[in-house]
Amino acid sequence: MPPIAQRPRGTQDLLPADQPYWAAMSGTAKDLAERFGYLPIETPTFEATELFVRAVGEASDIVSKEMFTFKDRGDRSLTLRPEGTAPIVRAYFDAGMQLEPQPVRLYYLGPYFRSERPQRGRYHEFRQFGIEAIGDASPLLDIEAIVLGWKWFGGLDVGGIQLQLNSIGDEVCRPAYRQLLRDYYRPHLAELSVESRMRFEKNPLRLFDSKEPQDQELKQKAPRIVDHLCQPCAQAFQAVKDGLAAEEIPFSLNPELVRGLDYYTRTVFEYQHERLGGAQNALGGGGRYDGLAAALGYRATPGIGFAIGLDRTAMVLKERKPLAPPPPDVWALAVDPKDELYVFHLAGTLRERGLRVVVDPGAARLDAKLRKAAKRGARVALLVGPEERERGEAVVRDMRLKTQVSVAEREVVPTVTQTLSAG
Ligand code: HAM
Repeated sequence: MPPIAQRPRGTQDLLPADQPYWAAMSGTAKDLAERFGYLPIETPTFEATELFVRAVGEASDIVSKEMFTFKDRGDRSLTLRPEGTAPIVRAYFDAGMQLEPQPVRLYYLGPYFRSERPQRGRYHEFRQFGIEAIGDASPLLDIEAIVLGWKWFGGLDVGGIQLQLNSIGDEVCRPAYRQLLRDYYRPHLAELSVESRMRFEKNPLRLFDSKEPQDQELKQKAPRIVDHLCQPCAQAFQAVKDGLAAEEIPFSLNPELVRGLDYYTRTVFEYQHERLGGAQNALGGGGRYDGLAAALGYRATPGIGFAIGLDRTAMVLKERKPLAPPPPDVWALAVDPKDELYVFHLAGTLRERGLRVVVDPGAARLDAKLRKAAKRGARVALLVGPEERERGEAVVRDMRLKTQVSVAEREVVPTVTQTLSAG
């Protein structure tokens, strides 16, 4: 019979050999976020579909073609979360966090779901590390978010990150700019790609996202939002640029960076990586979303945050430096299977000292078992043969020096500890 099922398209198994990368990414995230005063939050993996439609925007790629949406038994439409910001803003108000001292700083690690065509660095299920600071419009929080993300990549020693920065204005200056952009493009509609023509109608800012060759020339000459910011937006943008310069974080201004989610206002940014070409070159991105709470029906409340794609970062990390799962300290085995409970007991006394101890079960030739221990990288082997068992002893073998001593049961812990620290 063939196996019952295969791994679903666009998903990954994160195997033991992958885990050291994931442990490094989440460990660095927790440590760094907490040092900046961000606290962990987890929200459900699915939410009411309407939450994402309203937050991310009906015309966005995410909502129009990438959501995993299903009905529950009560005929309510639910969606596997494609992103984390809208759920966190919902949770902020659900939990009454608007009544706490502001801003509320939150961070999260977890799986997200988008039904994009799978390819290298693009999955149906992927994981993010993200932060959100909600309840304060100060550009200092934009700087803080960008610096935190930058330091996360630095802490993991991911080189080759390019930070791209833009401001896309707010509801004061953007409507007039949108008009200007439409006026610019209107005489050229026939020259545009089909997708760009749709964007012209629904969200002209996203015309800058086009990768179609036929759109490039018009795009290059199009009016740029940074030249049309209102005074408060321009001031905030200047403060962010000054802050990053003061922190010595290198960035490039990219007037074409508009991001694919509708909730952004003012600062938007992306961490891109040279090695991930094409559409998948963003390792992470974020920005300010001062209009999001109101769009969801809550009191107007500013916010800023980012999310970093961990699957993509893991790809870069793997190419950069190999990490291996920690080897066991001790490989414990009985020559005769009837002694293995005794060995299991000895292993327990070693584990109580915090050591990693693997008990190798069942009958096999001693040399085969020792080869297995060496292959797994164990530093010490603990062996019990019939004579040792009779005398209440065990053999402690230094796997590196290939020397061994026979010791009484009560000497097992000190001898193993000594052998481990001698290396
Ligand atoms: P985003 O740019 O849509 O932003 O996603 C952030 C990161 O998630 C991307 O840069 C990418 O590394 C990763 N990512 C996205 N889609 C996929 C995929 N299909 N497969 C693998 N990785 C993927 C957001 O999600 C916003 N919520 C960020 C944010 C937080 N803005 C403000 N606060």
